[in-house]
Amino acid sequence: MMKIGKVPLLLVLTVMMLNLSASSAWFGNKHKSVRNSGFPGETTSSRSLLLNGARSAIVLQVHGNVFPVGFYNVTLNIGQPPRPYFLDLDTGSDLTWLQCDAPCSHCSETPHPLYQPSNDLVPCEDPLCASLHWSNGNGNNCDYPDQCHYEIEYADQYSTLGVLVKDVYNLKFTNGKQLKVRMGLGCGYDQVFPAHSYHAVDGVLGLGRGRASLISQLSNQGLLRNVVGHCLGTHGGGYMFFGDISETSRVTWTYMSSIDSKHYSAGGGELLFGGKATGVGNLLAIFDTGSSYTYFNFHAYQALISWLKKDLHGKPLLEAPDDHTLPICWHGRRPFRSINEVRKYFKPLALSFTTGRRSRAVFEIPPEAYLIISNLGNVCLGILNGSELHMGDVNLIGDISMLDKLMVYDNDKQMIGWSPANCDRVPKSRHASI
Ligand SMILES: *[C@@H]1O[C@H](CO)[C@@H](O)[C@H](O)[C@H]1NC(C)=O
Ligand SMILES: *[C@@H]1O[C@H](CO)[C@@H](O)[C@H](O)[C@H]1NC(C)=O
Repeated sequence: MMKIGKVPLLLVLTVMMLNLSASSAWFGNKHKSVRNSGFPGETTSSRSLLLNGARSAIVLQVHGNVFPVGFYNVTLNIGQPPRPYFLDLDTGSDLTWLQCDAPCSHCSETPHPLYQPSNDLVPCEDPLCASLHWSNGNGNNCDYPDQCHYEIEYADQYSTLGVLVKDVYNLKFTNGKQLKVRMGLGCGYDQVFPAHSYHAVDGVLGLGRGRASLISQLSNQGLLRNVVGHCLGTHGGGYMFFGDISETSRVTWTYMSSIDSKHYSAGGGELLFGGKATGVGNLLAIFDTGSSYTYFNFHAYQALISWLKKDLHGKPLLEAPDDHTLPICWHGRRPFRSINEVRKYFKPLALSFTTGRRSRAVFEIPPEAYLIISNLGNVCLGILNGSELHMGDVNLIGDISMLDKLMVYDNDKQMIGWSPANCDRVPKSRHASI
């Protein structure tokens, strides 16, 4: 199933009156007894953890694949008593939220029973709430000061309306500690989504740069460095991590762009085709695990299509317009079973980012990072036309192009890094603590 990026395009501040009053009634007086505004780490942080935590991490197993599943998920245990939830990995947005029985006006089918929200409401003036509203550029509107309502609209037209609560996340750290950490969580009580963006998950795990993301909250509590990363394998699965893991010595680093400070983006990229400069440059690329495929902007896409067509001329591959798996597919003489059979027909791509006056950081996109084999045995192009998403000039680097790479987003240093990796090998705790 095709999935389009989860870059939040806008955050609408004004919540529909009807919903708001409905949930006000539901949340009623509960908040008064539970609101606490002390040090956010009070539930769990102990001094020893604060001291040891700086070099620790949380490593989570990831399930899923680019095709045919179309997304990656992790399991988190949330609530008291803790219950497991499957969450869609999304570096393109900040907030972690669950489909929620507030009660729910529109929820999709979930793998687990709907989340029952804690009664620990986040007040509107809380910085966590403000960060969700500020991303909209409209400042804060606290008509209901005891509650924080938000709306997130993702690029794939999925939208969610919710209220922010605090609840306990049960987390296992690589230094051996198991902690209950109280953090912000979205209770999504009204979701709208087109059929193609349906995923069998309970919610979204927001891994973005903003204050509301789980890693920002963990680092604000002094538990971990503000670093997050993932390693998604070609054969499906992989792992993700929060904090410091020690396997980052061979990582190529580039700066996060200041042009787009809301996403993990790198600017000034130049597209290489078969190792050669193409003249398609100054590209802004957003790294977004919420998107299974990669999207190029108008010029980059147009250029790519024309080089591919020229390059495939005379090779035993013909367009397969009957295959609707993705917009462009090619068939061979016989059905293909794996990318290995076709990679010889395709050149590697790369994005080369400026990192200094003379140095560049090259993000390689080999054929297996932009092609899939469809169920009909055709080879299909996993780089799609971004103009059709109305994303402007942005390029979205989706899961397909990050396969078999350790990707690291270091928010403390404001850098993005990558290195080739075997994602089947989940780092062990003794590797993870330095
Ligand atoms: C989501 O993850 C769980 C385990 O964490 C796994 O059992 C499930 O199959 C995954 N869903 C998909 C679609 O891969
Ligand atoms: C990409 O989509 C835009 C908008 O629909 C269209 O104008 C353009 O021709 C498409 N590019 C290619 C190479 O098909």
